Amino acid sequence: MKNISRRRFVGNLSAMSTAISAIGLSSNMVSAQNKIVIEPTKPPFNRPVKVGIIGCGVVMNCCYTPNLQASKFAEIVSVCDIKPERAQEAAKKFNIANWYPNLEKMLAGPHFDLLVNLTDMQEHEHLNKQALEAKRYVWSEKPMANSFQAGKDLLNLAIEQGVYIWGAPAVVQSPAFEFMARQIQDKKLGRVAAANAHYGHQGPSWSAFFYEQGGGSLPDLGVYNIASLTGILGPVKSVVAMTNIITPTRKVDDKGFIQVRAEDNAQLILEHDQGQVLSHIQCGFNYFDPYGHEGKGQNNPTISIVGSTGSMHLIGYDWHPIRVEISTQEQEKQAPFEYPENLFQWQMGASVICEYLSSGKPTRINPEHALHVLEIIEAARTSQEIGQRIYLQSAFKWPMV
Ligand SMILES: NC(=O)c1ccc[n+]([C@@H]2O[C@H](COP(=O)([O-])OP(=O)(O)OC[C@H]3O[C@@H](n4cnc5c(N)ncnc54)[C@H](O)[C@@H]3O)[C@@H](O)[C@H]2O)c1
Repeated sequence: MKNISRRRFVGNLSAMSTAISAIGLSSNMVSAQNKIVIEPTKPPFNRPVKVGIIGCGVVMNCCYTPNLQASKFAEIVSVCDIKPERAQEAAKKFNIANWYPNLEKMLAGPHFDLLVNLTDMQEHEHLNKQALEAKRYVWSEKPMANSFQAGKDLLNLAIEQGVYIWGAPAVVQSPAFEFMARQIQDKKLGRVAAANAHYGHQGPSWSAFFYEQGGGSLPDLGVYNIASLTGILGPVKSVVAMTNIITPTRKVDDKGFIQVRAEDNAQLILEHDQGQVLSHIQCGFNYFDPYGHEGKGQNNPTISIVGSTGSMHLIGYDWHPIRVEISTQEQEKQAPFEYPENLFQWQMGASVICEYLSSGKPTRINPEHALHVLEIIEAARTSQEIGQRIYLQSAFKWPMV
């Protein structure tokens, strides 16, 4: 860790004030419970957003860091991992000034505005809370919290603290999503009746958390289709679902043989608020897919929506869309909707939020939508548990386009 530890500054008030003037942040710093708290900047910052990343595993290395480093709206100041050697390696590889073994130390280090949380699914909630308490904005990988209620509490806490929290996935940001949602709004398919979406692969091999309590194929995989279909067709009022475990033991890199505790196979039927549309989503960690975890070369539909006078298919995945095919009564053969691949990447959620914070450019990604998706996941599990249809409480601002 090259930078001076913030801890050294804290102790007594005179040491603190010396430190504050030394780093030139006196205008927006206050002290609380012997900790230095910097009042959050309000968007637009009109400067790059200072980012601290927590979790230096697969997605940090492959995807998030290169994406953030390519953005003029983001500046990564620190990284952190409870496996400190991962943080150290990542800092070296990506030329990031500071690395830490835990969030507490990273929060006490040089200031960052936005925490990008890329840790295990079970860790998100408490780390997000800790960052919000320190008045940092948060971008969280999914899920934002371990339960719908805890997610709502985090959003309320964020608002109280004068910051905000957003959660993956970023699928609503893709041009394919926008095109599909626009077709529905313009009634191009007539009266929409039904939709079908699926996503699965053979399951990640590197970390146990995907299969432990609080993990599962719903928050890891189903979450994308749930976000897409609710975003396109509107909030859901009830859910019926069945889930189970197809592979009870697995071998993973970090823990060897483990018992699978969270569902690895799920089927959901969603009743949307608008127009009585019924949609079906299936996901799982036991799907042979010749395109693998990367999904390269997928040329089949993974989302289909049908109405009285038209149908529409998303080719590729909603997190990696290739094109949208649409056929209507008036025009059976239509040119597919396509666009340059670099306009959307699934890992761009944190960069999109940096752009919003830095420039004020609005984004479709919003926490109420992420919370609705979380409530659907929870409802699907309850439906399986008690064998009943579950009615939901939450909604979000719709239409999104
Ligand atoms: N791998 C993918 O393809 C993929 C794609 C999209 C989203 N995601 C999501 O991204 C997140 C990370 O996935 P991954 O595949 O990179 O996992 P990973 O296991 O490779 O990395 C997670 C990292 O977080 C660290 N960590 C765990 N708890 C921590 C804590 N309390 N403090 C600091 N560090 C901690 C671990 O040591 C590990 O290095 C998950 O939420 C996952 O669902 C993964």
